[in-house]
Amino acid sequence: MDTPPRLRLSKESLRRALKIFSYVLPYKWAFIGGMIFLVLGSLLFLGIMSLPGQILNVISGQAPAGLTLNRIFLLLLVLLAVQSLFSYLRVQLFAVVSERSLARLRRDLYEKLITLRIPFFEEHRVGEITSRMTNDVTQVQGVVSVTLAEFIRQIIMLLGAVALIIMRLKGLVLIMFATVPVVVLLALFFGRYIRKLMKARQDQLAQTNVIVEETMQSIQSVKAYTNEGFELNRYVAQLDVAVHTALRAAHARGLFAAFIIFAMFGALFFIIWRAALLVMNGTLLPGHLLDFAVYASIIGGAIASAASFYTEIVSAVGATERILEILEQPSEMELEQTGAAEPVRLAGHVQLKEVYFSYPTRKDVQVLKGISMDIKPGQRVALVGPSGAGKSTIVQLLLQFYQPDSGQILIDGKPAADYDLRAYRSNIAIVPQEVLLFGGTIRDNIRYGRPDATEAEIIDAARQANAWEFISAFPDGLDTIVGERGVKLSGGQRQRVAIARAILKDPAILLLDEATSSLDAESERMVQDALDVLMQGRTSLIIAHRLSTIREADCIYVIEHGRIAEQGSHHELSVIEGGLYNSLARLQLGV
Ligand SMILES: Nc1ncnc2c1ncn2[C@@H]1O[C@H](COP(=O)(O)OP(=O)(O)OP(=O)(O)O)[C@@H](O)[C@H]1O
Ligand SMILES: [Mg+2]
Repeated sequence: MDTPPRLRLSKESLRRALKIFSYVLPYKWAFIGGMIFLVLGSLLFLGIMSLPGQILNVISGQAPAGLTLNRIFLLLLVLLAVQSLFSYLRVQLFAVVSERSLARLRRDLYEKLITLRIPFFEEHRVGEITSRMTNDVTQVQGVVSVTLAEFIRQIIMLLGAVALIIMRLKGLVLIMFATVPVVVLLALFFGRYIRKLMKARQDQLAQTNVIVEETMQSIQSVKAYTNEGFELNRYVAQLDVAVHTALRAAHARGLFAAFIIFAMFGALFFIIWRAALLVMNGTLLPGHLLDFAVYASIIGGAIASAASFYTEIVSAVGATERILEILEQPSEMELEQTGAAEPVRLAGHVQLKEVYFSYPTRKDVQVLKGISMDIKPGQRVALVGPSGAGKSTIVQLLLQFYQPDSGQILIDGKPAADYDLRAYRSNIAIVPQEVLLFGGTIRDNIRYGRPDATEAEIIDAARQANAWEFISAFPDGLDTIVGERGVKLSGGQRQRVAIARAILKDPAILLLDEATSSLDAESERMVQDALDVLMQGRTSLIIAHRLSTIREADCIYVIEHGRIAEQGSHHELSVIEGGLYNSLARLQLGV
């Protein structure tokens, strides 16, 4: 998805970028209004700028009859007032358009992100995704709110000033057209080179941000391994590259500035010199000489800023492309065949038939090699096996984060993929190995299982999960803030909050990735009791490490290298001399 830096507008990219304008469409009247004020304001400005020349003509006694200094100043005052009003209205209208439309774009982008398939998040780094949410959208917003308008304004200025010069200063036109375009062309050529360097610097800075983000995310490991120095070196090395490019760009920019000063102003003074000669021999009014100076500087300014606005627009087109790339990804729901979204209540009969699977990001490694299981409603099944065998993968397939390469997953006799995805997932709860709580209150975190639950139901769920005791011991009770900025709950406490959440959800199928880190005996018992309540009357698939869970399982599947090596009850498997379960149990459980 990394689009190469593109500095030219192709028809295709422009056409695609215009799609973003569908977000502006609802505010088209404000946009059109802003454009009208923009055009009127620019024309008015050109008019105002012709008045200083008239003043000079009046002073030298060569003005048309009836034009006095007082009248000119009065006119100036009125025009300025109108011009100010136009500017105010223009800024307001464009702000309304850009803020409202870009908020909608952000909303759509976020909605799309959270409904994308899991593999998307494996193919893209978090930093890259958030950068699209923030940097790219901000760039587009800048164009809609300011840059586009300014660009158009500068173009109007440019054309207007050129037209006025041609009309008033016929004698100078030839000289002008012999000098100015040459300088402008050189400037454009130079500008393109500088832009390329600036873009490279931007990309390198983005790389440094990725490093910052990665270290922040795993700051504990960085410290635990005392790798601060290593990370710092990594960061500094990347910074050095960015600085080097930046300095090359600065060198080019400096040359550019020197060139502009010398060539642009040299050309300007050359023309003024020729014009002054014309005034001396009486072919030109002195006011027109001033007019020329004024309009020439407007033209110069307009070309310079139009060029920089143009660059911004081009890079915003690049940004829209990256945004559209996300917006045009199909969401999980769109990938589904069925459209029916009626709620379903599953009984919880889970069947896997010869399931083969490899992760989309690592197609060459087959993770599951023909897994078959039959779990009757309400049964309690344990998955055990060495690390990397594929246990968590089975859980992820049951959640339909991925689809099997071949084979079938049947729920209540019907292919899992045939259910409406949301209705399907609403029947499944997962208690993950490592519970992450959302920033917010404990109540919010429990209610996550069912947002419309009542206070009494939340408390009841907390009680059943053995969590009420510690929650009510907090001064703020359910209102205690947890997560990044709040109270840090222990591993066992977080698990019980997650269990309360699952109880509230009341799922038909329960997926449980037991924590490998052993809790102390007391917490272990509390968590186990809570789990017993939770598993009551549900189909439970547990990646098991605790002896108690494994012993009481209706069936144990021993997974090895993506295959089912053994299956049966604890007693059946324990007696297989030299069996995998036998040796695992001896190692892990000490039996
Ligand atoms: N998102 C992923 N993308 C690519 N490969 C993956 C992904 N997740 C897991 N794998 C690979 O799939 C294989 C099975 O992983 P899985 O997480 O299912 O193992 P596990 O049995 O749960 O192990 P553990 O007991 O250590 O949790 C491993 O080789 C792992 O490297
Ligand atoms: Mg696992």
